[in-house]
Amino acid sequence: MLGNKTLKSTLIGGLLTIAGIAFSLQANAACNLVSTIDGKPLNIKVTADDSDAAKKFLETCKNPYNEIFEKDATALKKLGRRAYNYNNCTGCHGGKLEGVMAPGLKKQPVGGQSQWDNQWVYPKNATDKGMFETIAGGTPGKSGKGVMFKWHKQVEGHTGDGLTTDEILQAIAYIRTKYEGTDGKTWLK
Ligand code: HEC
Repeated sequence: MLGNKTLKSTLIGGLLTIAGIAFSLQANAACNLVSTIDGKPLNIKVTADDSDAAKKFLETCKNPYNEIFEKDATALKKLGRRAYNYNNCTGCHGGKLEGVMAPGLKKQPVGGQSQWDNQWVYPKNATDKGMFETIAGGTPGKSGKGVMFKWHKQVEGHTGDGLTTDEILQAIAYIRTKYEGTDGKTWLK
């Protein structure tokens, strides 16, 4: 039979463990990323290779590459265009983001290829948090053109070698520079 003392220390130990788990979850997920597929948490953690920009995004949900690319055209080409082109985003979304077998990503107001071209299939992509979730954790297929892979290395079932937080943020900031839509630059607010 358990003595009173043992019971107490077990209880206290248990409570401390729960507090510890709650704390570490909070520390890792200040931005509270969730999957576009099912709304469940996407637990993306800071790694040793992450740049300051990636760390800042995971804390604040704001993509520092927007500003970096706005000021520095070489960085835009070197990091942004590379992140988009070298990972075969072009294969499905087009070299000019015009949409091929997947929705266009520049959201031109008229003359697009599909009904989705002037609006996001997933409206949350108007924010950087939303677009990061869509690319990192994949999509459920609302466009009728199929689903998109999970891209982040830390997400289970990711495609190929997967992408880092930095690479996804760079691709997003590149996509933002091509935006032609009319509903304001939400991601800069
Ligand atoms: C094999 C084809 C394929 C590749 C490669 C691909 N995508 Fe997609 N992507 C899709 C499809 C299909 C959709 C629509 C998914 C849906 O309806 O759920 C999509 C949707 C998206 C959306 C949301 C569009 C919207 O209107 O809401 C973004 C953003 C996106 N992709 C970015 C990327 C980026 C960045 C890359 C490269 C890292 C990439 N995609 C590579 C097929 C692809």
